[in-house]
Amino acid sequence: MLRAAVLGATGYLGGELLRVLSQHPSLDVVLATSGRQAGATLGSVYPGLSRFSELVLSADADRADADVAFLALPATESMAVVPSLLERGIRVVDLGPDYRLKDPAEFRRVYGKPHADPGHLAEAVYGLPELGRDAIRSARLVANPGCYPTATLLAVAPLWRAGLVEGPIVVDAKSGTSGAGASPTPTSHHPEAAGTVWPYGTPEHRHLPEMRQALASAAAPAPPIVFVPHLVPLVRGILCSIYVRSTGPFDPLAFASVYARSYADSPFVRVGGVPRLPWAAGTNRCFLSVVSVGGAPVIFSALDNLGKGGATQAIQNANLLLGLEETLGLTQPGFAV
Ligand SMILES: NC(=O)c1ccc[n+]([C@@H]2O[C@H](COP(=O)([O-])OP(=O)(O)OC[C@H]3O[C@@H](n4cnc5c(N)ncnc54)[C@H](OP(=O)(O)O)[C@@H]3O)[C@@H](O)[C@H]2O)c1
Repeated sequence: MLRAAVLGATGYLGGELLRVLSQHPSLDVVLATSGRQAGATLGSVYPGLSRFSELVLSADADRADADVAFLALPATESMAVVPSLLERGIRVVDLGPDYRLKDPAEFRRVYGKPHADPGHLAEAVYGLPELGRDAIRSARLVANPGCYPTATLLAVAPLWRAGLVEGPIVVDAKSGTSGAGASPTPTSHHPEAAGTVWPYGTPEHRHLPEMRQALASAAAPAPPIVFVPHLVPLVRGILCSIYVRSTGPFDPLAFASVYARSYADSPFVRVGGVPRLPWAAGTNRCFLSVVSVGGAPVIFSALDNLGKGGATQAIQNANLLLGLEETLGLTQPGFAV
């Protein structure tokens, strides 16, 4: 068994990591951390969990003696602990945004703080396996992508790289409220979020620079992206409706064949009819669909923000960097309805 640490184990991604890791055949959770619930057992925080239920939450990330650490911490907290984890030979998958943007000045602009560990920014590998898994296999530090960038990039990057689409790329995204994390906010707690659809994050949501950076590395320069997320009264799930312009006459078969080529070895990306969010719930799958509307291409991309948009993608990355089968522990089915 390889040993895993989960930092931020009481948050939404921490809980999803523990749920999915509890069925992983080669990873054992040996440390789980929390600031506010240190001293409690995992079984008392998550009564639904059977494996790991005796493990006591610790406040001390420095106790990590593990092969891999999953960091499910708020933005700007991971960069304080990553250097010491790496120094101790622990490989890291950071589920937060601290190591996604390569340029420290851009990080400071977007997150409002100077980067505390700029030395590891260049080394960090952006962990979207379907767009480049080889670099992940040899990484020490993986920056797990954001949930919206995962849904958008899986839909757009292969088409952009193949020259089939041009900007602006218009991403109309809908997300469930778990995307905002476990602490209630004035806009995400139930009375505010239920019964309405709320466009937010304009003019520049924090995930937009990440999307630009990834599309520029697929084919520079990145196209203009118009990204408008909406909060919808669901708990889990992201559905993006993506409006692109075809560079030539739109041929749905050409789009399909780029996806088929790009994702031939990527079992977690499914291309087919218009997706439903329950299919993705609790899974590591992203469902893509291309339709012609008035002769123009529209792409739908659906995933679970806590799954392929977060925790299960992190486990997929950990499998790769630990030399395990990429799909290990990640084959659970979604819901039918
Ligand atoms: N939610 C999503 O859909 C999603 C998807 C992709 C990426 N992400 C990113 O993943 C990270 C975790 O997201 P989340 O939604 O799971 O957040 P969350 O529900 O707010 O959980 C945060 C966790 O971090 C711990 N924590 C809070 N403040 C801390 C501090 N100052 N130092 C150390 N630990 C602290 C909390 O523990 P205690 O409160 O018990 O102390 C809790 O376990 C964030 O960076 C987020 O942007 C989230």
